[in-house]
Amino acid sequence: MLHDPNRVYVFDTTLRDGEQVPGCQLTTPEKIEIARELEALGVDIIEAGFPVSSPGDFQSVVEISKVVKEPTVCALTRANKGDIDVAVAALQYAKHPRIHTGIGSSDMHIKHKFNSTREEILERAVEAVKYAKRSVEDIEFYAEDAGRADVEYLAKMIEAVITAGATVVNIPDTNGYCLPNQYGDKIRYLKENVKNIDKAVISVHCHNDLGLATANSIAGLQNGARQVEGTINGIGERAGNTSIEEVVMILKTHPILGLHTKINTKNFYELSRMVSTQMRMVVQPNKAIVGSNAFAHSSGIHQDGFLKMRENYEIIKPEDVGFPSATIVLTARSGRHALKFHLERLGYKLDKEELADAYHRFLTLADNKLDIKDDDLLLLVNSNTLYGQSFTNVSNK
Ligand code: KIV
Ligand code: ZN
Repeated sequence: MLHDPNRVYVFDTTLRDGEQVPGCQLTTPEKIEIARELEALGVDIIEAGFPVSSPGDFQSVVEISKVVKEPTVCALTRANKGDIDVAVAALQYAKHPRIHTGIGSSDMHIKHKFNSTREEILERAVEAVKYAKRSVEDIEFYAEDAGRADVEYLAKMIEAVITAGATVVNIPDTNGYCLPNQYGDKIRYLKENVKNIDKAVISVHCHNDLGLATANSIAGLQNGARQVEGTINGIGERAGNTSIEEVVMILKTHPILGLHTKINTKNFYELSRMVSTQMRMVVQPNKAIVGSNAFAHSSGIHQDGFLKMRENYEIIKPEDVGFPSATIVLTARSGRHALKFHLERLGYKLDKEELADAYHRFLTLADNKLDIKDDDLLLLVNSNTLYGQSFTNVSNK
């Protein structure tokens, strides 16, 4: 089969980088449930855990390997034989196993985390890849803190690990430091200067410390990366990881980028809710794609435009991401058009004058009540005592 140069592989690390968040720990059965849903979503790789970190994580990787059929199951290690041996054992049942090993690549990490030198770290990186390759064919190497690493040294490291057998090279912006153009340039530099880069897929793994994880991931893809790493709802260390749902919907919404994934985007909303519930991590209402307000229109100007033609204020169809439906929220900022829409939905057809009157009384109500529900509207049109006038329900005619 011919390799599609525009296909982006989706690497989900909700169960590893996402699960590192304090309070988000999952049991093995919960992880299996999420892994099954990730498979249904169509991700290409599931990073199931860091097996050496705890017996529970080891067991989760074992059990996920048994149930997942299509996606590659990946296990994280540091660049040492002990970690790699444990990961190999945890992946024994995986149909498509991958070891994800790596080491720091920035001078900051080399000096202040490893108390080492560039030469020694490069040697350790190569040794780890060679050692993992003895047991597993598919090896991903991560150059931790690559976002802050010297690009020439990074290129040397990447070339050496590909020669040692790495099939995927992950260039993490571990601290969410880069600007999109800096990160994109780094990926392009590697693409243009690493002699054997065509033997591996470049992967982007961005953190969100400056709110740039998604933008940086897209910049990396525009400059030659073909694997994107992230989590559902963008959960992860500190400010989180790249949101998979955001990257996938950006690629879908902008065909000009010429890139595509095999994600079933209609599964996003349900999976987002499942991850949020199981990990006890609320999704902020204004979160792109899956937040509860992502398709809610509340100001009068927007509501009027939306009701005339949804595309005036909707660049993604809610149903494309499995979102129940767009909502027209009634607040004191809503216009007549929105009130008319809701009253008609409830079966009330008002003439111009009746609507003007109902709208006048609606504004008084909305100024005093934040959350206008259907019951309030029914009261508004039905109660003579409270509101002075009643209207006809066309559905009762
Ligand atoms: O952010 C990071 O650098 C990581 C690596 C372990 C891949 O999560
Ligand atoms: Zn990370």
